[in-house]
Amino acid sequence: MRFQVTPSALQDATVTVPGDKSVSHRALMLGSIAEGRTTISGFLAGEDCLATLAAMQSMGVSIEQADATDITIDGAGLQGLGMPDGPLDLGNSGTAMRLMTGLLCGQAFDSVLTGDESLTSRPMRRIITPLSAMGASIDSRDGLPPLSIQGGSALHGIDYDLPVASAQVKSAVLLAGLYATGETSVVEPAVTRDHTERMLGSMGVAVTKSGNRISLEGGQTLQGCSVQVPADLSSAAFLILAALIADKADVLIENVGVNPTRTGVIDILQAMGADISLEQPRLLGQEPVANIRVRSSELQGGPVDPALVSLAIDEFPVLFVAAAAAKGKTTFSGIGELRVKESDRIAAMASGLRALGIDVEESPDGAIVHGGQFSGGVVESHGDHRIAMSLAVAGTRAQEPVTVRDVAAVDTSFPGFCECLTALNLDIEVSAA
Ligand code: S3P
Repeated sequence: MRFQVTPSALQDATVTVPGDKSVSHRALMLGSIAEGRTTISGFLAGEDCLATLAAMQSMGVSIEQADATDITIDGAGLQGLGMPDGPLDLGNSGTAMRLMTGLLCGQAFDSVLTGDESLTSRPMRRIITPLSAMGASIDSRDGLPPLSIQGGSALHGIDYDLPVASAQVKSAVLLAGLYATGETSVVEPAVTRDHTERMLGSMGVAVTKSGNRISLEGGQTLQGCSVQVPADLSSAAFLILAALIADKADVLIENVGVNPTRTGVIDILQAMGADISLEQPRLLGQEPVANIRVRSSELQGGPVDPALVSLAIDEFPVLFVAAAAAKGKTTFSGIGELRVKESDRIAAMASGLRALGIDVEESPDGAIVHGGQFSGGVVESHGDHRIAMSLAVAGTRAQEPVTVRDVAAVDTSFPGFCECLTALNLDIEVSAA
């Protein structure tokens, strides 16, 4: 599949985007091991979360999907999961694989976790190391999936200094900690998204935080609850950028999650001169949400604060597009983690932007993007949803049409992406091939 983007004028509108991917995964996993009923509204019915849903069902959890975004789980309890019939295929989802490994390494049964070509080339030692230190037994293909988890291991708590800032690793260790004896602690080198801690809290688990150290006692029971999933800021980011770089636009995106561990993208864009404001800030359960108003702005390049990297980790592809549309040069540093996402996102964005006439200098853990004008052309997504959507947004302001190839993965996180752009009067079409 490919996107055919014809440069077009964005129209003022009020829009919404689908539910948060990170919160949706966690609601499924935690609801499955809770006691009693968990209801999820605003669930992201994207392929990644549907892979998690199918995996939990194949371990015997009763999950009903009344419609695409409304889910009811009758929790199996901490010890109620059953052995799946075969390997659990987690598709493209790193979050599903890493969090589920934490959940499964304390079970009585064996399990195997696998995924698509991208997922089976992503590093898993970062979870195998701490989980093994807790007593888990996990075999891999030299640190890569498939992962074979041997059941029946007695886990014990650890005190773990995370070598990389990663919410997935933090969450995997905390989930294993529920099945461990004693206290499990993780210390983060930089703050990362805290949806696991918040949701565990709303399900009655005592999670303590002292500075960058997060701890819980093993054996605590989770109580089912109602989870209202905010719209995903990581998806809203594409619309935010389309509005910012439009000629003259005023766009409102409603009900978006603005958890402070996720809002680095807004801070970075505001530092570049973006006119973005958060209206009606409120709480949806444990998660802060707001309506985000965006007005077209002249963006100015500059150094991007590396302290914001872990708070904007998924938004760098679209921030590269912001940098390309900005005046002057923008310097990204400390973003080496982007090389082990769904694709090597530094390389993928550098080559995509270069194909559109933008000058990009790459380094092992950064890039310098020189602002310019997007030409037209054919660009590759490398099978990565966020690269596909970022380059499509660039296409809305190009001099000639832009074709983005290999875009099927957009459905992993943002089903309805094209419809959302079309609602803004942008001209994007999907075609086979
Ligand atoms: C996620 C954590 C981040 C992020 C991913 C979702 C999560 O990954 O990139 O899209 O839901 O915990 P890392 O923990 O590898 O940085």
